[in-house]
Amino acid sequence: PSSPYLKGKKLLVTAGPTQEKMDPVRYFTNRSSGKMGYAIAEAAAQQGADVTLISGPTALGAPRGVETIYVTSAQEMYQEVIERFEETDVVIKTAAVADYRPKTVSEQKIKKAEGEWTVTFVRNPDILQELGKRKTHQLLVGFAAETEHLQDFAMQKLEKKQLDMIVANNVAAPDAGFSVDTNRVTFIYKGGASKDLELMSKQKVAEALCEELDILLKSRASK
Ligand code: C5P
Repeated sequence: PSSPYLKGKKLLVTAGPTQEKMDPVRYFTNRSSGKMGYAIAEAAAQQGADVTLISGPTALGAPRGVETIYVTSAQEMYQEVIERFEETDVVIKTAAVADYRPKTVSEQKIKKAEGEWTVTFVRNPDILQELGKRKTHQLLVGFAAETEHLQDFAMQKLEKKQLDMIVANNVAAPDAGFSVDTNRVTFIYKGGASKDLELMSKQKVAEALCEELDILLKSRASK
């Protein structure tokens, strides 16, 4: 391993979409594949970190060397993350958490009827924002998937959620973002410095992120 400061640290990575139930056969979700988060979990484990992955529903096999916990909804993900936060050194929130869930979940399958169907949604808890409020020693890394004003929106999230770093990716580009195996990201740091990475595999992005984490942990250790 070439990341001495990452070695032995407790990492919590979230990945994938969440599913928000409407009835026993229907749910609301998004196009996240989980690939980016799984790649990060595996890369960090290879650097000797103690990694726990909290995963929404994906088609991926469990990453090697990682404790994987499966959840379905945003509320379940919230529980699993909050429970482990205090003992964690670094949190990387790659998951595309649904911002809204249906206000009511029908116990029986909703039957079709004539005319339109209106579903009311309520806000889910923002997990990362809650971690930002609770953080003591933890490094917090967020992801920002946007289709426009990428840098501005990412910077706003970094500040609002009190993050140390945010990884911005343009999900409108065909070779980056959801589902595909490659990504084109920008690392943005607290204070506003940023670094544009070229197009590369999600594995390579994950390795680059591990190197950045090592540097952040190193500068924290020398404070
Ligand atoms: O949804 P948003 O674009 O604000 O997501 C930015 C970051 O916040 C991501 O890292 C995402 O995992 C996290 N997030 C979260 N809980 C939510 C929504 C987003 O932790 N309910």
